[in-house]
Amino acid sequence: MANLIPLDSVDSALVEALLDRAFEPTRARRTAYKVRDGVDWLPALSFAALDSEERLAGTIQCWPVALTEPAAEGIKPKRHPLIMVGPVAVLPEQQGAGFGQALVTATLAALSPEAPLPQVMIGDPEYYERFFGFSSAYTSGWLLPGPWDPARLLCRTDRPEVLPTRGMLGPWRG
Ligand SMILES: CC(C)(COP(=O)(O)OP(=O)(O)OC[C@H]1O[C@@H](n2cnc3c(N)ncnc32)[C@H](O)[C@@H]1OP(=O)(O)O)[C@@H](O)C(=O)NCCC(=O)NCCS
Repeated sequence: MANLIPLDSVDSALVEALLDRAFEPTRARRTAYKVRDGVDWLPALSFAALDSEERLAGTIQCWPVALTEPAAEGIKPKRHPLIMVGPVAVLPEQQGAGFGQALVTATLAALSPEAPLPQVMIGDPEYYERFFGFSSAYTSGWLLPGPWDPARLLCRTDRPEVLPTRGMLGPWRG
């Protein structure tokens, strides 16, 4: 059973070392990093999982991002706030023990119940659709600031009818 703690109680060097082991060394070049370039992760939605010996086993971070609708002449483009989920990372030797599901469940439970923002991520649909209801069905008209596989651009929302069908994803800057 995972013991979850707020990510901001963990040394950031340990988090970076875990991410280096869960992903390839060039991870910072991924398009997901560009989407959230320059913004800080959200402490209230970001967690660490500890194993039974209190060692760091996994992490999840979430970020404030925006989907900006295409500009129409004379009208300021409308920005829609979303939560970007990820990276979700579990150490290779700890994978398959439920840490990933515990981390994502904690984040989803921490969203505002009154007005949960839609959640977006780039990830494996086989995992995030199966366990959490993320879907690429809403994102086919969305653009990213780098290359992406449309099947892996996923969104989760209770109200898909209010999601813009077209727009560019990028950092939320207030
Ligand atoms: C993907 C990841 C977060 C899953 O976490 P985990 O703790 O290993 O997985 P869990 O123990 O919660 O879930 C295990 C189940 O999910 C399945 N699963 C795990 N990773 C999967 C993936 N990438 N695609 C499809 N299914 C996957 C397992 O087969 C298992 O299924 P079962 O219960 O039917 O046997 C983790 O493996 C990881 O960190 N991978 C490397 C980094 C990465 O790719 N992150 C995602 C992009 S942000």
